[in-house]
Amino acid sequence: MHKFIETIKKNESEPFVIENFINTNEIKLFQELYRDLPLEINNTRQKIIKKKWSENFYPELQKIYYNKLKLILDNFEMDNPKTKNGLASLGLFQESFMPVSLHVDTGFDFEKIIYKQTLLPLSNEGETIIFKNRFYGCSTTFSINEKELAAKGYNKRSSEHINLYSGKKFDDKMHKKYLNHEEIDNLKGLEIDLVYKWRLGDLLVFDRTNLHCASSNLKNKKLGFTSSTVKL
Ligand SMILES: [Fe+2]
Repeated sequence: MHKFIETIKKNESEPFVIENFINTNEIKLFQELYRDLPLEINNTRQKIIKKKWSENFYPELQKIYYNKLKLILDNFEMDNPKTKNGLASLGLFQESFMPVSLHVDTGFDFEKIIYKQTLLPLSNEGETIIFKNRFYGCSTTFSINEKELAAKGYNKRSSEHINLYSGKKFDDKMHKKYLNHEEIDNLKGLEIDLVYKWRLGDLLVFDRTNLHCASSNLKNKKLGFTSSTVKL
């Protein structure tokens, strides 16, 4: 459990979207950066390719990105796991061919005041579902499926979310429309806060304590860049 929960809660807000956070030229640069970066992980089970923005790539774009973040978030520091070569990273590019399941990106350091998480869509295809429900343990993938619970990955696997919220059956219509890659019983007690349809140039900002997942509406693939922050 995170230690400074009260402070973390004070800094929480509703998720929000900054339209035109970056311009057309910057979108292009981000897409080129993704192409140029070395592969970090190719997970064939989850059909996802991950690359970390290591500090030695595109320093000019790093400045632009960081300064733009400073306009919308105050007193923060980037908080992203290092690359496999031990270099600092500004965040993670994820190219996914399959919807990512329910999880939270709270990290593993309970001393930190975890703050906002950002998603920069680099494709127009993609949809992200942010739930009102929050979690104050470590980064966890939530599932009631035995196989998934036994799977190994960066996140902890757990079904503890089932007992944390109201236990109410999840809305049938919303399940069919956005979340049919999840078992409906895995969504017990969850309430959708925001359905965010990806748009190039936008930035989605939400709390690291918000449960979230991809929507099931993914025809081909999507590419996005996410960063995590902590409060200073
Ligand atoms: Fe996430």
